[in-house]
Amino acid sequence: MNDLHDLIRRLPKAELHLHLEGSLEPEMIFDLARRNNIDIPYASVEDIRAAYDFSNLQDFLDLYYIGMNVLQTEDDLYDLTMAYLRRSNADNVRHVEVFIDPQGHTGRGIAFETVMNGITRAMAEGEKEFGITSKLIMCFLRHLSEAEAFETLEQAKPFLHQIEGVGLASSELGHPPSKFQRVFAAAADLGLKRVAHAGEEGPPDYVHEALDLLKIDRLDHGNRALEDAALVDRLVAEQMTLTVCPLSNLRLCVVDNLESHPLKRMLDHGLRATVNTDDPAYFGGYMNDNYIRTADALGLTREDVITLAKNSFRGSFLPQADIDRHLAEIDAVASA
Ligand code: HPA
Ligand code: ZN
Repeated sequence: MNDLHDLIRRLPKAELHLHLEGSLEPEMIFDLARRNNIDIPYASVEDIRAAYDFSNLQDFLDLYYIGMNVLQTEDDLYDLTMAYLRRSNADNVRHVEVFIDPQGHTGRGIAFETVMNGITRAMAEGEKEFGITSKLIMCFLRHLSEAEAFETLEQAKPFLHQIEGVGLASSELGHPPSKFQRVFAAAADLGLKRVAHAGEEGPPDYVHEALDLLKIDRLDHGNRALEDAALVDRLVAEQMTLTVCPLSNLRLCVVDNLESHPLKRMLDHGLRATVNTDDPAYFGGYMNDNYIRTADALGLTREDVITLAKNSFRGSFLPQADIDRHLAEIDAVASA
């Protein structure tokens, strides 16, 4: 038995970067297509998996938006969310902060309310059944316009008690954070937290914009921040959490191989890095797979792994008392 793998499996962890629609497994795409009488351009589950061969973010996004077409009813969103929470529970994930893409649904005629009701019903059920706590972050799709983002923020107003924050997702290159400065300011005025994808494919400048213009509370990916030494110093000084997604980076060719992944360098710089799945149904692994494969490829130590697990709670939007309780549980597991 590998002691480090065993420790990874036993450690309580939080997931801070997960697109709910990216946890839609091929089997569920097939089941929901049948249930909802939807035509999909695949003959079999194997056919779907074979199509998941990406050269970049856009290759993936094209199939991600096709996949989510099978999500039609409140029950579909409920089933999707429950499946993710059940799978995360199996990996000892104790808390999740889940991204949703409302525009991916409202843009094809599914009501905002339908999406919210299915997901929040599952979140309550997941807490009861598995003890997993969860929060929701709604992402604006950056390939769409500022006006459409404002429209989405408007639709969210009746549900603000169920939404922790806003994020920025989809095609990064050509859609800098500055495009959404005003809508992020409006979200801040509503009391919402702010996070943004930056530095996945985009340059360090996009990370600067996310910090300065969007006033983010957390940085999603951030890999390319390492190209800018002053930016790294700033992220360390501000104790900014980076939600890093190793298997996603591998499958979207952000890195050539896991051995060259920057996670270990991030930790060595003192950055508050975390490990996350991004779109596990598309990228070949849930939480423990991400930890274990990265730990093996980079030679992470026991201390590195414990730091990553602790960072996931430190970087969460949980109240400090809950964070402290999770950190104490990590210490207890690590010393058992
Ligand atoms: N990057 C940007 N947008 C996304 C991703 C991603 O990895 N997954 C789903 N939307
Ligand atoms: Zn992402």
